[in-house]
Amino acid sequence: MRKKIIAGNWKMNYCVNKGVDFVEEIKERIDTDKIDVVICPNFVALDRIFDAIEGTNIYLGAQNVYFETSGAYTGETSVDMLTAVGVKYCIVGHSERRKYFHETDEMVNQKVKKLLEKDVSPIICVGETLEERDASKHFDIVEEQVTKALKDIHKDLVSKKIVIAYEPIWAIGTGVTATAEQANEMCKFIRGVVAKLYTTSVADCVRIQYGGSVKPSNANEILNMSDIDGALVGGASLTNDFVAIVNYES
Ligand code: PGA
Repeated sequence: MRKKIIAGNWKMNYCVNKGVDFVEEIKERIDTDKIDVVICPNFVALDRIFDAIEGTNIYLGAQNVYFETSGAYTGETSVDMLTAVGVKYCIVGHSERRKYFHETDEMVNQKVKKLLEKDVSPIICVGETLEERDASKHFDIVEEQVTKALKDIHKDLVSKKIVIAYEPIWAIGTGVTATAEQANEMCKFIRGVVAKLYTTSVADCVRIQYGGSVKPSNANEILNMSDIDGALVGGASLTNDFVAIVNYES
């Protein structure tokens, strides 16, 4: 049985103090008995948010990482820097990074490998644009993203550490959610891709989230689908809505 995982991606929101205040406000109301909950603030807030979640079962996540170990890479952050402040999960290949910062599938793969070396779970984001879906290319696009992200990753690491987030780009920050059926269909397809690359038992262990305008009004339906193992939540993770989503009715 896969344990559900819900992650809040704060993106470039909340300065340190505001973020800490928000976590203090919600942390006691978040039910972490049945599911893993991850909060992904901006880099500069990681350390203080780690202190704020101490004593809870909430995990700390980062929104990005660089794949080199250390050195002259101005503006970048290594995995060791993340683990030093308590990071356990890291989002990679978010569509905003692919779009604005030209992150490629090959870079995603390098980041995944580096994170796994240091026992950090990657949350690998994949998803198609509206044009790609309209042209019926969405399955091919997602299969390619998943295949390239997992290139040369050992099956044991895939089953134990990898989280995949299916985020159709047309549903991110738009208020338009994929229907629960569309989301489940793609999550199931991704599980099939993992089974093809590895085995069915590996695929059965991988947790696959849906992301894109998840809110309290659609969380129950989405999170109760057969192949959706959680959610990657953007906008709604900045408000009390995150509590309602995490405490959805299963
Ligand atoms: P959204 O963002 O929930 O605001 O649509 C999701 C994401 O980008 O991870």
